[in-house]
Amino acid sequence: MSGHTLPDLTYPYDGLEPYISRQIMELHHKKHHQTYVNALNAAEQAYAKTSTPKERIALQAALKFNGGGHINHSLFWKNLAPSAAERKGHGGELRDGPLKVAILERWGTYEKFKQEFNTTTAGIQGSGWGWLGLNPATGKLEIVTTANQDPLLSHVPIIGVDIWEHAFYLQYLNVKVDYLNAIWNVIDFQEAERRFVDAGGSSKL
Ligand SMILES: [Fe+2]
Repeated sequence: MSGHTLPDLTYPYDGLEPYISRQIMELHHKKHHQTYVNALNAAEQAYAKTSTPKERIALQAALKFNGGGHINHSLFWKNLAPSAAERKGHGGELRDGPLKVAILERWGTYEKFKQEFNTTTAGIQGSGWGWLGLNPATGKLEIVTTANQDPLLSHVPIIGVDIWEHAFYLQYLNVKVDYLNAIWNVIDFQEAERRFVDAGGSSKL
């Protein structure tokens, strides 16, 4: 079994500056995400050697935590792109298309959407993730949160934002809301729109 591997980023570690520093990106990707990958592989290898339900149950927490960490970070890196405001890429640009239409239908304005996302996400107690998700039952976009490294299972993830302190503390210290305000400059809405369309989301055009 070859196991899981750390995915490459499609931009350099300093590509998201000044909104997310090179130091954070390098540590976050090379150290934090790699640790989830290594621990997930170890847990899966241990699971393959189990012979009793009790042994398998004992590994559930490690599988969930590290598997979630790997899934969430793999989504997160793709959610980000160098900033259009810095003339480095298309990060932060919500272009006309089905995702923009759906956001405006649901929240009225892009500013109101961001405001609700940031308020909901800033309210996470401890570590977790903020999500824009598509509710498969209703076909509607919703802002939801998950705790720890729990992956988003109730919705299809469209945008995920890491709210662990390791994602922002070295640059923003304890001011989570500054990190949340900054990150919209490097959100890859093209990737978000691909996920939205693939999930069957559409506007009522
Ligand atoms: Fe993280």
